[in-house]
Amino acid sequence: MIYPIVMYGDAVLRKKALDIEKGTDLSAVIKDMFETMYAAKGIGLAAPQIGKSIRLFIVDGSPLDEEPDMENFKKAFINPQILSESGEPWPFEEGCLSIPNIREEIMRKEKLRISYFDENWIKKDEEFEGMKARIIQHEYDHIEGKLFIDYLAPLKKRMLKGKLNDISKGEVDTEYRIIAAKK
Ligand code: NI
Repeated sequence: MIYPIVMYGDAVLRKKALDIEKGTDLSAVIKDMFETMYAAKGIGLAAPQIGKSIRLFIVDGSPLDEEPDMENFKKAFINPQILSESGEPWPFEEGCLSIPNIREEIMRKEKLRISYFDENWIKKDEEFEGMKARIIQHEYDHIEGKLFIDYLAPLKKRMLKGKLNDISKGEVDTEYRIIAAKK
């Protein structure tokens, strides 16, 4: 099932999402999230973006085939915890399915260590770097109630205000189904 994607301005995108009870069967929601993400041509999707305030996100970096080793970067992260971040912050122009048609350069540290459960509730403790780390950092922010535009300088953010307002009302062109913000 393909969910409509929740737009910027919705309260669910600002909540700290809740831990999921260990052993919960998430196979249906994970399958639906992959379907939803592929339909929207995304490389990451967090549960709050389909209206569920739970600590779950998925990634599939394979569309970024110019990046090393991305073909195997398809995963679900359940109850993840970023344990540490390190390395030099580096810039990249990020976008977000909940904030269509806006891309801005964001600085993030190059490496991280994260613990999480996979879709079979197997506990993992892994390190990622580069674009993989960046995708994880962006999606992890979603379950903390944070968005990439929060990192922008106040002036930049003010300049986007009109566009963001339109997005929250669902007045934006997308090739995927969206749902206007419920405050
Ligand atoms: Ni996003």
